[in-house]
Formats: sequence, C-alpha cells, structure tokens
Amino acid sequence: MMQPLPGFRDFLPEPLPFPDSWSADLRRHIFESWRASARRYGFREYDGPPLEPLELFTLKSGEEIVRQLFNFRDKGDRDVSLRPEMTPTLARLVATVERHYRKPIKWFAIPQLFRYEKHQKGRLREHFQFNADIFGEADPAADAELVALLIDSLRGLGLTADDFVIRLSSRRAWQGFQERLGVDAARAYDFYQAVDKLDREKEAVTDAKFREFGTSLDAVRQFIAAAEPTAELRRVLDDLASRGMSEFVRIDYGIIRGLAYYTGVVFEAFDRKGEFRAIAGGGRYDQLVKLVSGGKVDLPGLGFGMGDVVLTELLKSRGLLPALGGVLDDYVIIEDETLRGAALAIVQRLRSGGRRVDFSLTAMKGDKQFKRALELGASRTIRVERGADGKTVLKVRDLVTRAEHEVSPEVVV
Ligand code: HAM
Repeated sequence: MMQPLPGFRDFLPEPLPFPDSWSADLRRHIFESWRASARRYGFREYDGPPLEPLELFTLKSGEEIVRQLFNFRDKGDRDVSLRPEMTPTLARLVATVERHYRKPIKWFAIPQLFRYEKHQKGRLREHFQFNADIFGEADPAADAELVALLIDSLRGLGLTADDFVIRLSSRRAWQGFQERLGVDAARAYDFYQAVDKLDREKEAVTDAKFREFGTSLDAVRQFIAAAEPTAELRRVLDDLASRGMSEFVRIDYGIIRGLAYYTGVVFEAFDRKGEFRAIAGGGRYDQLVKLVSGGKVDLPGLGFGMGDVVLTELLKSRGLLPALGGVLDDYVIIEDETLRGAALAIVQRLRSGGRRVDFSLTAMKGDKQFKRALELGASRTIRVERGADGKTVLKVRDLVTRAEHEVSPEVVV
C-alpha cells in the first residue's frame, strides 16, 4: 500500500482507526479555538502562497531554516521553496500593502509549513502554525499584547498555568552582555546560535564556542541565572501583571531563538514538566520589513508561531481532547421504499433549514438504519411513515431521552 512521505500526515474523521492517527476533527477544533482567540484580540486573518521565491527565505531566516528548505527549480527555471515559516511572506505582504491599513496592523494566519527536518518527536516535515503578528508599534505594550494572546490561545484550549509557561527573554539583554565582552556585531548571530543550543549540545563543545567569544559556559550560565529584566521586559511584565497573567511568564535568558531576524523581546512557550519541545515561539523583528522591502518600508514588527504538533501531544497527555464524535442532527429512516420520494423532500427541507441530516442512500432494514443513526451520533431519528389517511407522517425520536412524537412534514424543521 502507498504511504504518505515520511513526516507528512493524513487527517481522518473520528473515531480514529489507530491510536496514532491524526484527527481531522481535532484539527478543526484547534483551528477554531485559535481563530476565536485571535478575534478576541482584534486580529484579522490573512494568507499567502505556500510556494515562494527561494531568496525570500535565504535572505534572513538564518541557516538553520535554510538547511531545512523544501526547495526545487520549477518548470519556468525559477528557484522556489515551499514556505518553512510565515514571517518572511508576511513581511513582504505588509511592506507592499501597509499604507492601506491603519497602524498598528494586527494580523493572524494558520498556514501549513514545510521543513525538511530530521523526523523526531514533536517535529514533522509539515505542520500547521498559528501565526499572530503586529506591525507599526515599537512600544513594549505591543510585546505584552502578543504574549497575552499567546497565553489566552493556550488557555482557550483548556491549558492552565500548571500546564505551560512562557519563557521571556530579550536579544537586547544579550547585546549588552556581548558589548561588555567586545563581541563583533557581525558575529552576534553565531553567539545567539551557541546560546540557543545550550541545552542540546555537550558542555565541552559549548564552552569551547563561548571561549572563542572571550567568555565561558559558566559566565553565560551566571548571566542566565541572574535573569535581571531589561527595561522593556520590566514593562512587559508589569503589563501582564495588570492583566492577572504573571503566573504564566518568567524571565529566562536561555531563550534566544534560532531565527536570525529577531531584534528585541523573544519568547517561547513550554510545557511545565519539560516533556515536550517548544509549543510556540516568537519575538520582535524591527528590521525585517525594511530588509525584505529593500529599504523602502521601515516598520517595526513582532509576532509568534504556535505549531499544531507539540500542542496536540500536550493536549493528549493532559486529557484535554474534547469528545469529537457525531456531528449529525437528524437521521431520516425510510422503511417503506414507496415513501422515498417524500423522504427526500423532508431531507431537503431539513437541510435548507440548516440541520445536519443523513439517510440511507439505498433500501435497508429499519433496525439497521436506526443503528447507523446511533453510530453517526445523530440527536434525532425521523421515521417516514404513511398515516391511516394515506398522508405522510413523521415519527421523531429524541435519541437522548428516547421519547417519540408524531409531527406533520410541514412543521418538522
Ligand atoms: P519557530 O520557533 O521556528 O518560529 O516555530 C514556531 C513553532 O512551530 C514551534 O515552537 C513548534 O511548535 C512549531 N514547529 C516548528 N517546526 C516544526 C516542525 N518541523 N514540526 C512540528 N512543529 C514545528 C517560527 O516559525 C517563527 N516564524 C514564528 C514567528 C512568527 N515569529 C514571529 N512571527
């Protein structure tokens, strides 16, 4: 049997045939929750193409993502790539249309993204990512608004402060650290990469890297442990405290973000127990629009991305998957085939009235049709019968109370 490519998923309707199947119903539930949270914060939805010119991503995402590109030459000899992240597309889009929108621009999207990663827990070769970004506001109030949205979109799915924490940091704090060491600005990204890999690489390797910069693993660890908030982080913390959200965040300078374009506040969301990889990550990128527009548009930006893969694992492990069974209102039962025409008219009337309706497409025993209604999770069955006077009557049964009553076809909706 043909299988999907490694790291790609099929999404199936519930109930799922195998424990490791991906649920299309759960995916919709998550997307709806993300959308509802974004709207509560006044974000508007946008989208862009899944395939882009290669150079959009080689420009400023940083080597980590460039190594993972799904790129190829198209039939018109263009170098193209599937999008590994949304931010460069968004920066291009905003640079093109920003003058038509009032600032701050608050936009969100739920793109499918593609990265040629090593297949591992929490990392696939495609994933869906909730992206929320703000443009045109340099004040830390915007960073706080974004972090608050991240918190509320996780809370919207039933997660609490016992389940997750946002680790807040700032590249500015690290800039100060580097300036004291005299690190060349051109090598700042290499330094960030070393910090980003702190937990994943052998201590001796990391220490050697830091020694090249004139410091050591110990000094870096001390700086992280002190966690002295910068002025902008102080503002973000105070803002979140006013919203009653302090318990969801903490300063952690171990967070630096792998992507090259961040300039200020950065953050990642993790599960409290530290079982999973990052749930979400983001930060401020005040130079990206300028870079992507070749210097024509200069607009500060900030945002985050939350993937569906780790999130699903976390919801599963915390028992927060909702019951996602039937989504049917009425199942119409036809026992007398001479009434099929009348039954189709009823089905049509119900559907036009907005009800979700199913029925057997071919002749089937009545009890089988009833069983099917239960399997599909219908809330009512509607039995089409002929009354004593020869007119069609409908027997409506509530499948919760099992009570049945008779109605005429005119009032069934
Ligand atoms: P990122 O940290 O690369 O940031 O990805 C954000 C989140 O997407 C991760 O925390 C993770 O949950 C999920 N994710 C990333 N790669 C994979 C993968 N291969 N499989 C499953 N899930 C994955 C960005 O992409 C930035 N563009 C986010 C952003 C938006 N920054 C500003 N605005």
